[in-house]
Amino acid sequence: MLRSNARFGGKLIRISSFLKHERFSSKQVAESADYLPITSFGFKEVDKEEKEGMVREVFLKVAPTYDLMNDIMSAGVHRIWKDSIVSKLGVFPGMIHVDVAGGTGDIGFRSLSALRAAETSARDSSFHAPNVGPKPGRIIICDINSHMLVEGKRRAAHLDLTNSTDRQGNRLATINFKEGNAENLPLDDGSVDLYTIVFGLRNVTDTLAALKDARRVLKPGGKLICMEFSSVRNESLRTFYEAYSFGVIPLMGELIAQDERSYQYLVESIRMFPRQVELEEIMREAGFKCVAHENLTGGVVALHSGFRI
Ligand SMILES: C[S@@+](CC[C@H](N)C(=O)[O-])C[C@H]1O[C@@H](n2cnc3c(N)ncnc32)[C@H](O)[C@@H]1O
Repeated sequence: MLRSNARFGGKLIRISSFLKHERFSSKQVAESADYLPITSFGFKEVDKEEKEGMVREVFLKVAPTYDLMNDIMSAGVHRIWKDSIVSKLGVFPGMIHVDVAGGTGDIGFRSLSALRAAETSARDSSFHAPNVGPKPGRIIICDINSHMLVEGKRRAAHLDLTNSTDRQGNRLATINFKEGNAENLPLDDGSVDLYTIVFGLRNVTDTLAALKDARRVLKPGGKLICMEFSSVRNESLRTFYEAYSFGVIPLMGELIAQDERSYQYLVESIRMFPRQVELEEIMREAGFKCVAHENLTGGVVALHSGFRI
């Protein structure tokens, strides 16, 4: 399976073993993506070319019950984590925001409400006639999996978010769904003000490539926000969290979605993902500046941010 042994002192290294045993820095892990033909799929080692299809299959299976499972698994706490992102988005009239790995739209919909509110308030406080003033903004929900996007579109229609004029005929910010891979986004260079990726980066085959592509699509001065499960520092909380993740979540997956394996992958992928400071290092490697992170719920989740300067 391994075709390269040129790095790390000429030793053949299996990627998941060095990730698990933390024998190498995150920089080495990120660099390894350039030449190692294998990567992790949960605790398994797989050929890089295989991972995308395997992840696609997971989300194809979980798509119909994804939102329900999120509420049950986190006892609704994922809504609090996602709500907390809204104040960090820095929405402004005319903003273009891409939510990558946007799935069924949780972040895109929150951003759209905030953007429409900002645009309405700017319009109400200006002397402009309706429909004169900045062009309305745009939210793009991008995901590799069309089944997740179908669920997202269904929810957007149900919530009447696809209607892009208000009762007075004013234009509102729009929402669009686009199928695409985070490593090679179907977006022009320097075309977005804000890039978010929420509970998505750990599913991408090559983290560094995805972050480099995030930087490519951002305008100079644009911001990246990544929310992802991370590393819990408090020992008691960590013990509880690990027992819950590995003992309860796959079981719930089986009972509710009849799919234990997909949920086993989800908890394993959380364990394999770089810790807070390691992810910061990979973001800097991808060219981001002013990189920082904030822990939520003791580090169960971390919110990373950085700018394209
Ligand atoms: C755990 S879900 C998160 C969905 C949404 N962001 C949320 O927080 O509810 C992960 C999403 O990542 C998407 N995904 C996985 N690999 C991807 C890739 N390479 N590019 C874009 N999206 C990807 C999956 O299809 C799935 O919708």
